[in-house]
Amino acid sequence: MNYRKLGNTDIDVSVIALGGWALAADSSEVTWGKQDERDSLATIDAALDEGINFIDTAEGYSKGASEELIGRALKGRRDRMVVATKAGRKNLAPEKLIQACEGSLRRLQMDMIDLYQLHWADPEVPLEDTLGALSTLRDQGKIRAFGVCNFGPGDLSDLVKTGTDCASNQLAYSLLARAIEYEIQPLCMEHNIGILCYSPLAQGLLTGKFRTADDVPAGRARTRHFSSDRTETRHGESGCETETFRAIEKIRNSCDRLGRPMEEVALAWLLHQPAVTSVLAGARNPEQLRRNTRAAAVRLDKEVLDELAEATEEVKHALGPNADLWMGGDNSRMR
Ligand SMILES: NC(=O)c1ccc[n+]([C@@H]2O[C@H](COP(=O)([O-])OP(=O)(O)OC[C@H]3O[C@@H](n4cnc5c(N)ncnc54)[C@H](OP(=O)(O)O)[C@@H]3O)[C@@H](O)[C@H]2O)c1
Repeated sequence: MNYRKLGNTDIDVSVIALGGWALAADSSEVTWGKQDERDSLATIDAALDEGINFIDTAEGYSKGASEELIGRALKGRRDRMVVATKAGRKNLAPEKLIQACEGSLRRLQMDMIDLYQLHWADPEVPLEDTLGALSTLRDQGKIRAFGVCNFGPGDLSDLVKTGTDCASNQLAYSLLARAIEYEIQPLCMEHNIGILCYSPLAQGLLTGKFRTADDVPAGRARTRHFSSDRTETRHGESGCETETFRAIEKIRNSCDRLGRPMEEVALAWLLHQPAVTSVLAGARNPEQLRRNTRAAAVRLDKEVLDELAEATEEVKHALGPNADLWMGGDNSRMR
């Protein structure tokens, strides 16, 4: 495993992190459906065995059950994981943020969160107020560092103007979701804000296991890649299903030539991109986790990196600079 510094902190995180969204899913979880807890606990054990020291969750994942599960799994070995969690968009007013953080600490059974993140920006709450509460939490020793998620160019520019040291911006970034390359990634580079890539496998599309858009479970066919005719979408756009599956076939050809599985290549490609600190890969069992972890050791030469970027250029163009995977046009939650 390789480790990189998280933004301007002194925290070293593994380049492959474990994403915690699906880890405590139950049948009400629209994206992931039901998850067996024994598999999740075994996946966290496997992560530690592989040298992964970074795990990401949120108060919103399965109504706090993901944090609870991670708390149980790390009991007695808390020091082996850098734990990142998030406050929901509704909780950014100072008092609510303090309460949200205390709720997360309780569920995680920890007295400190290593990286506390804002899940989405809230235009209703002045940023300075939220930053004030974060700095109180840091002074109290309840959080070690703070980061944001889903901050677009406008929110990010406002944030850096305050002079606050934000460690990271967690963003949808994969070969099939490259919107951040237009403006957000250069800003993160300029200000030494580490990019944590979420949905790096495009929720399974970049493992190559779905051959057509109809093969993708409805709960996952919600992103702007898919047509708004599909039942769970909220974006109201036409999507780019043809372009997406054409890109996947091109990636598959490159992977076949390289003799490497698609998930390895897709994750490794991200680790070669500027400002990327770590990829938060979801895994539902130890086997998936181990397969994903192999990406940490994969070096891709410039020719291959360019070929993969070229294969997905059409999708990048179709989705444009809006980095909100699920909402389009004026409803995008990113600014
Ligand atoms: N900040 C935010 O707004 C935000 C948003 C989304 C995600 N996140 C974070 O990012 C993490 C990762 O994103 P994600 O879970 O959306 O998507 P992802 O990592 O792109 O995909 C994960 C899913 O792909 C499948 N998979 C993983 N490895 C595989 C392998 N080797 N072979 C075959 N299938 C494999 C699994 O589902 P199946 O086995 O069911 O196919 C797994 O749950 C989340 O857990 C969360 O921590 C943050």
